Amino acid sequence: MTALEPSFIRDTRDGYNAIAADYAELSKDHPGADPYGRAMLGTFAEYVLADGGGPVVEVGSGPGQMTAHLHTLGLNISGIDLSPVMVAMARRTYPDVRFEEGSMTGLDLPDRSLAGLVAWYSIIHIVPEQLPHVFAEFHRVLAPGGRLLLAFQVGDEPRHYDEAFGHRVSLDFRRLSPDRVTELLNQAGFQVPARLVREPYDGETTPHAKLLAHKPPLPTPQPQP
Ligand SMILES: C[S@@+](CC[C@H](N)C(=O)[O-])C[C@H]1O[C@@H](n2cnc3c(N)ncnc32)[C@H](O)[C@@H]1O
Repeated sequence: MTALEPSFIRDTRDGYNAIAADYAELSKDHPGADPYGRAMLGTFAEYVLADGGGPVVEVGSGPGQMTAHLHTLGLNISGIDLSPVMVAMARRTYPDVRFEEGSMTGLDLPDRSLAGLVAWYSIIHIVPEQLPHVFAEFHRVLAPGGRLLLAFQVGDEPRHYDEAFGHRVSLDFRRLSPDRVTELLNQAGFQVPARLVREPYDGETTPHAKLLAHKPPLPTPQPQP
């Protein structure tokens, strides 16, 4: 943590440090990807592999089950998470996959170094005014043609929790508009050829969205006459 760190980052890290074990236990029963989600993860993996199978990162990898799922689909993937407790748990559970601590607001990755980036229910913890900066960061680290996959709950009203799984936390879960996210991605330089929005299942209160985007590839050099 640095003195300049925004409070929403500190609160999110502290919150997930506190609930990591309970969240991981819950994720075992609710793997976070229903058949619609798995279809979009599969499409993402297919594109990345067709493009040559370069490095992929899941930002906000939590207990690591989605990173591990993409690993089993053949991707050269690692996970990055804000919460060191989540990172330690993911390393223990999936020793074949690399997990590191970090924040999507400032990724410790070189420019144009990734073939793909996944943010699976993690941009929901970014304050709205920081989303353009985060999408610019995703654009920076992706190579031309690189693929981006986002998942989030749809809506307007954020949910604030002071308590979760019996722990005191201060966690905000923001709902987002697929149109607004697409607009911000376009402004950051992404094309967004596909989106999937499904209605809430039993017990859920919002629709869920998955957006598949890519950074435009470099133009193919034309043969000189
Ligand atoms: C709702 S969980 C999703 C975890 C996992 N992707 C899944 O689908 O189960 C959100 C995760 O994002 C992480 N996170 C939140 N803000 C982050 C940030 N700025 N950078 C990296 N990770 C972040 C949290 O620590 C948490 O593990």
